[in-house]
Amino acid sequence: MRVLVIPASKYGGTAEIGRAMAKTLREHRLDVDVSQPEHMFDLAPYDGHIVGSALYLGNWLPQARSFVEEYAEGLRRKPTWLFSSGPLGPARPEEPMSDEVLAQLMDQSGATEHRLFSGKLTLDRLSRTDRFVARWVGAADGDYREWDDIEAWAEGIAKSLVPPSERLIDGIGGRATR
Ligand SMILES: Cc1cc2nc3c(=O)[nH]c(=O)nc-3n(C[C@H](O)[C@H](O)[C@H](O)COP(=O)(O)O)c2cc1C
Repeated sequence: MRVLVIPASKYGGTAEIGRAMAKTLREHRLDVDVSQPEHMFDLAPYDGHIVGSALYLGNWLPQARSFVEEYAEGLRRKPTWLFSSGPLGPARPEEPMSDEVLAQLMDQSGATEHRLFSGKLTLDRLSRTDRFVARWVGAADGDYREWDDIEAWAEGIAKSLVPPSERLIDGIGGRATR
């Protein structure tokens, strides 16, 4: 079974989330390709898709929105999951994604679920404009990504794609007999 993971990222934090998901999926015997949304894709070989984006000013990055729009038909043909990465800690000064934006992405992609994960911010690495906005909303440096949650979510996806007879038994490489 083959899965395509598309994490749209501006400063690398969401790309790392995509790679962590891919690692978990591979541990469950799935073939995984991780790619940026700007590339050209043939979705036909894939049995599932995970599409995600960092949140900026309450929305997905433009390249991630364009990807979902352009490949909507292909995405809807196979199971698809969406995720966003953004909130920066308990203070949460940043904007949430609007219900309308999310509803449109879900509708276009036919996704079964959308999951919001916390993000990461390194003020020194931001462009001047982004740093200005981040300071303006009171966002502070920090890595709030919850790796256990990210892995658990990817594991749930793997289990829904891999038939029980194909799953590892206790991670030792055998095949389940029931
Ligand atoms: C200018 C700017 C605007 C942001 N806007 C939002 C937002 O609206 N909602 C949110 O949850 N997070 C927001 N964030 C936080 C980012 O989504 C978070 O830092 C994310 O992990 C960045 O991912 P990336 O490294 O893949 O680009 C913003 C960050 C910056 C710098």
